[in-house]
Amino acid sequence: MKILIVGSGGREHALAWKAAQSPLASEVLVAPGNAGTGREPKVRNVAVEATDIPGLIDLAYREGVDLTIVGPEAPLVAGIVDRFTEAGLTCLGPTAAAARLEGSKSFAKDFLARHGIPTARHETFTDLAAAARYLEAHPGAHVVKADGLASGKGVVVADDQAAALDAAAAMLNGAFGEAGRRIVIEERLVGVEASFIVLADGLDYVAFPTSEDHKRLADGDRGPNTGGMGAFSPASAVDAALEAVIRRQIIEPTLRGLQDDGHRYRGFLYAGLMLTADGPKVLEFNCRFGDPETQPIMMRLRSDLVALAAAAAHGTLSSQTLEIDPRPGLCVVLAAPGYPGAVRTGDPITGLDAADPETKVFHAGTREADGAVRSCGGRVLGVTSLGATLEEARERAYRRLEAIALDGGLYRRDIGRRPYGSRP
Ligand code: AMP
Ligand code: GLY
Repeated sequence: MKILIVGSGGREHALAWKAAQSPLASEVLVAPGNAGTGREPKVRNVAVEATDIPGLIDLAYREGVDLTIVGPEAPLVAGIVDRFTEAGLTCLGPTAAAARLEGSKSFAKDFLARHGIPTARHETFTDLAAAARYLEAHPGAHVVKADGLASGKGVVVADDQAAALDAAAAMLNGAFGEAGRRIVIEERLVGVEASFIVLADGLDYVAFPTSEDHKRLADGDRGPNTGGMGAFSPASAVDAALEAVIRRQIIEPTLRGLQDDGHRYRGFLYAGLMLTADGPKVLEFNCRFGDPETQPIMMRLRSDLVALAAAAAHGTLSSQTLEIDPRPGLCVVLAAPGYPGAVRTGDPITGLDAADPETKVFHAGTREADGAVRSCGGRVLGVTSLGATLEEARERAYRRLEAIALDGGLYRRDIGRRPYGSRP
């Protein structure tokens, strides 16, 4: 089978690397890919942007692609699966209608409320005066969210009423463009976060191992929210009993609710959860795999990704089970100076070549130019290791990262070091 992976980040490098290991894959194309995917055996980059849906359809015809797997949310929300299907091509992912679960936070919150799935209490606003009245009537800490896609950055966790009101005003005044013309204000939940990602086809699904992301820029979970500065798997606070609760109270009612609403959900579904004293609650849905969660999860996945993806796309997922490496995996992200704001790009990256079977350096914002691998985006690399323990995976990943040089590159020193194991 010829496989096409859409995207250019660390997630797509991990998906392409894993797909290329499948005996079912004759070749893996990545559009547009990065310097890392360009160097993988059996993998070839093609210069078509992830949002150029007509260009991707052309490519899939020209190359005789059998199965397309979409990494990022933007093409999914824009309807890539609908367009591929109309063109008679197989593309794994939700339709645009189902991808609204990620594309609109107000849609997701209304969906959760309507189907009785646990989540933070919320209200949607387009008007600042109404938002101010709501905040006044609901004392306590709040989170203010831009309704539309904002690359994981349109969320302000406010410490007090004044900060919440400031965030609401900034968003409604256009700080996130159209994405913030409508906002969701929700109660701030307290607990430990975890990511739960499944591959679904209607009501059938297989669950990947749990994971935990580090969204804040700086050590100690301080600084602005980012796309994710590191991740590890399994999540620290999810045991088998809690996983069963998550499946029963969140994943299964979500897939059923989508089906009842007329959307057979096909593709990866990511539930961002807060494990609270009242049980797990949904913070957000993503209609795709997580980045950087994909990196440690793909390192741990022993099953054939292409077989899984093809089964989901063709309606035979119930025949599939997952085999997972019991060893924990951990990924540390190296970002360019300035991230998550405007970053400096074009700097050479050295120290990439050493090989260690337990460690993989996944590329994100990199490209080959003038005989060097150079930075070209916010998150540049995700150094990912397996270990007998999380601590061993952590030491391995940091040791490997410290041998890599990127001028001004920044990374967190405390990935995997949350005070974990305890949940409220
Ligand atoms: P989201 O993109 O909605 O997942 O939000 C990004 C991050 O903001 C989450 O990973 C949490 O760390 C935080 N967050 C979002 N919603 C809440 C909430 N209701 N309570 C506390 N923290 C939240
Ligand atoms: N790491 C969080 C996300 O992929 O949205």
